[in-house]
Amino acid sequence: MIRRYEFGKVLETEAILEKPEQAEGAVPYLQVDEAKRSLLYEMGEKDRVYGLGENLRGINKRGWIYESRCTDDPEHMEDKRALYGAHNFLVVDGQDQFGVFIDYPGILSFDVGYTRCNQLKIQLSDWNMDLYVITGENVRDIVRQFRRLIGRSYIPPLWAFGYGQSRWGYKSEDDVREVVRRHRELQIPLDSVYLDIDYMERYKDFTVNQETFPDFADFCGEMKRQHIHLVPIIDAGVKQEEGYPVYEEGMEKGYFCKKEDGSPFVAAVWPGKALFPDMLNEEARRWFGNQYQFLLDQGIEGFWNDMNEPAIFYTEDRLRQVMEELESYKGRNLDLDTFFSFTNLVQSLSNNTEDYKEFYHEFHGEKVRHDRVHNLFGFNMTRAAGEAFERLVPEKRILMFSRSSYIGMHRYGGIWQGDNRSWWSHLLLNIKMMPSLNMCGFLYTGADLGGFGADTTEDLLLRWLAFGIFTPLMRNHSAMGTREQEVYRFEKTEGFRHIIGLRYRLIPYLYSEYMKAVLRDEMMFRPLAFDYPSDAYAAQVEDQLLLGEELMLAPVYEQNKEGRYVYLPEEMKMVRFSEDGTVEEKILPAGHHYVKVPLTDVVFFLRPNRLIPFADVAQNVDEIDFEHPGVLAFVREEACYEYYRDNGYEKDYENPAHFHRICLKKGESSPTVF
Ligand code: NOJ
Repeated sequence: MIRRYEFGKVLETEAILEKPEQAEGAVPYLQVDEAKRSLLYEMGEKDRVYGLGENLRGINKRGWIYESRCTDDPEHMEDKRALYGAHNFLVVDGQDQFGVFIDYPGILSFDVGYTRCNQLKIQLSDWNMDLYVITGENVRDIVRQFRRLIGRSYIPPLWAFGYGQSRWGYKSEDDVREVVRRHRELQIPLDSVYLDIDYMERYKDFTVNQETFPDFADFCGEMKRQHIHLVPIIDAGVKQEEGYPVYEEGMEKGYFCKKEDGSPFVAAVWPGKALFPDMLNEEARRWFGNQYQFLLDQGIEGFWNDMNEPAIFYTEDRLRQVMEELESYKGRNLDLDTFFSFTNLVQSLSNNTEDYKEFYHEFHGEKVRHDRVHNLFGFNMTRAAGEAFERLVPEKRILMFSRSSYIGMHRYGGIWQGDNRSWWSHLLLNIKMMPSLNMCGFLYTGADLGGFGADTTEDLLLRWLAFGIFTPLMRNHSAMGTREQEVYRFEKTEGFRHIIGLRYRLIPYLYSEYMKAVLRDEMMFRPLAFDYPSDAYAAQVEDQLLLGEELMLAPVYEQNKEGRYVYLPEEMKMVRFSEDGTVEEKILPAGHHYVKVPLTDVVFFLRPNRLIPFADVAQNVDEIDFEHPGVLAFVREEACYEYYRDNGYEKDYENPAHFHRICLKKGESSPTVF
């Protein structure tokens, strides 16, 4: 059951397309304190709190304070409170069981037992919101109802389930050719190469550097013939430059965000001084979306939207002030106080919260200061693209994922998990974030495998890929200046080929699970607690995940480990894939186990009476035989699988012809397909 309560003057975020009528009576479970602009809930000692999408720390969010404040934070560590997305949905599971969604586009915090261990306190910046309280049969049911409310998640084209190679620093056609050549030569499967800002002409959106990519359309064609999709980046900031058509036209039509006095708000990002299109203004959004045509026309079928929190290096105004103040430090003996205030001055330039109060949007016909709707910017940039694709290439599925997001954006694209680092702790964070993101509708997601910032190591990349083969977005991405981390840079070529090859063997299953999760508002990744609610130990396991109804994953996420402890909430079949091609299957009883996982092995667990389709290795998605997959099964009596298979490019998602059944009975050697 979903109850909606309206407070103040609600700013329509369009997270929800069809709002239910307002509920009568008092809000259940929560104490509503209008004067303090807060919502309170007294948690039981053992209550767990799930959700909040893209955020830090555990699957159970208890014990920390989180913010919804879309933030560009490449240094995100445990002490941070916010990441790139703002996902205001959580579920309390304990003495009571209910979900809460705060549809509110400004900054808010969720104090989940941080200030007082048994208190959940939601604090808003102002008192205008739609509050939803959802109750149901169990946690999965509550999530399902919420997902139904926010609408169907985005569906990418099938090739987007292949392996993608990315790096900030591929500067030319030849750089890209080299990446493809090395993968193909070593028979390491690959479906896409990402183009970071280097492909543009001086970081200008919707341009291509003519010197390094002289015939872009031709190059796209050359890549496609090798089954490679190029995926260019698009940034939120449009370079301020006379003669650059996007800038000129945006200025002429008044489509950029403005300061209070109506003058353009100038902030610097990659190209230096830039302007932000007013993504919240419908007309400007349409105009910005139309710009993607430039690249679609050249054969591009996928994009990633970046820097759309929006990230600000500095604003013209603040830079001027800081420069002036810095003058006063000249020639001084900088001591404890002055030295830090001096360095802080420069640091205060980037993503300064005060700067987000300096510009305005035209939102549903009203002038609204940015900080009141901050969390909607990335959502609406991606919506601009998604709506444009529907207009410009309605017959096609276009790959789209974004860095910043708000619930509602999940209908237009996926997200990647932002700028992580080559840290083992960020591999674990990637694992823990999957279910929380799924709760909020973000199914097409994954992290920068190997880590974006800092130098990776071969073992970290192997372990990260061994988890990444399960995430819908599987992309190796790293930052300029860090150790190069294409898999061919390392020694264990066989191991990388084996692990990435396994991804391709699993794609029929992963795609099928993805589509069912989308069409049925299910989570593809779940914590153990969601499926084994009466198992008190399972509720504490945060480093294992359920995938679909069939698999349990227990990735290795620590260095120099030859295996790990695994908890089995019931009897399961362990399946081990080794580099030499052997597949070991072993039934293990419920309980605690130590499982050896050598560096290039992949291990997962099959639940009883379950099977998954399992294809042969392919070098790219086009080569996968979806029609005649083999199976991996744990049959006690009979295992049946509902196999979703379409051509991966059309949009008749619900067509019953796409649903097949694969069954295997005890003693049978080959399955029956219906
Ligand atoms: C920030 C993005 O998060 C990262 O993935 C990208 O490589 C850089 N911007 C450069 O475009």
